[in-house]
Amino acid sequence: MAIIAPSILSADFTILGKEISAVEKAGADWIHIDVMDGSFVPNISYGPIIVDACKKVTTLPLDVHLMIEHPDHLIPDFVKAGADLISVHAEACTHLHRTVQLIQESKVKAGVAVNPATPLTCLEWIIEELDFVLLMSVNPGFGGQKFIQSTLDKIEQLAALIEETGSRAIIQVDGGVGPTTINGVAKAGATSFVAGSAIFSTPDYAQTITMLRQQAEV
Ligand code: DX5
Ligand code: ZN
Repeated sequence: MAIIAPSILSADFTILGKEISAVEKAGADWIHIDVMDGSFVPNISYGPIIVDACKKVTTLPLDVHLMIEHPDHLIPDFVKAGADLISVHAEACTHLHRTVQLIQESKVKAGVAVNPATPLTCLEWIIEELDFVLLMSVNPGFGGQKFIQSTLDKIEQLAALIEETGSRAIIQVDGGVGPTTINGVAKAGATSFVAGSAIFSTPDYAQTITMLRQQAEV
């Protein structure tokens, strides 16, 4: 079953509550919240207070993607704000195993995110601990970028690693996912799909999410 996770980075922030209710009503499965620190990525977005605000308007799981350096000291704040899933970047964590444990000890699902140029070898000794892996299919920092095609091979390789190790991790793909790319992403082995501009730039969220879901059910 495909998990469609609209990224609120492309929502209209002047009516954020309404936008979240609208995608929930339109059939979204998770709400993807992109946290950027202006250091790990060249952009700044929002932090725990926005997660807390989102929690008040939806019952959907909040999927918090931390594009920040040294996430450990902020993880408790995101947990307290209502995160149901938290992903941290392999490139940003010196003690990745400890960070994953910290998330899971808080009864929150843990994911590791990897940038397009980061090899999957960084996951080999942690894959069995993970609830999900977030493969970036654009360089993180902004919505509306073009999907990087080499991600398709990477998804297949990750699916093989998961199979080999018997890991329970699911594969989430983030960046440039939309009507022309989602089917290939699903065929390669992903089951969780983050889509920002592909959903929020369209007039009818229900129609868009239904269409994305159909393309993703392979
Ligand atoms: C990029 C973020 C993505 C972004 C996706 O740094 O992690 O979640 O919002 O946006 P689209 O779907 O427009 O590429
Ligand atoms: Zn994201």
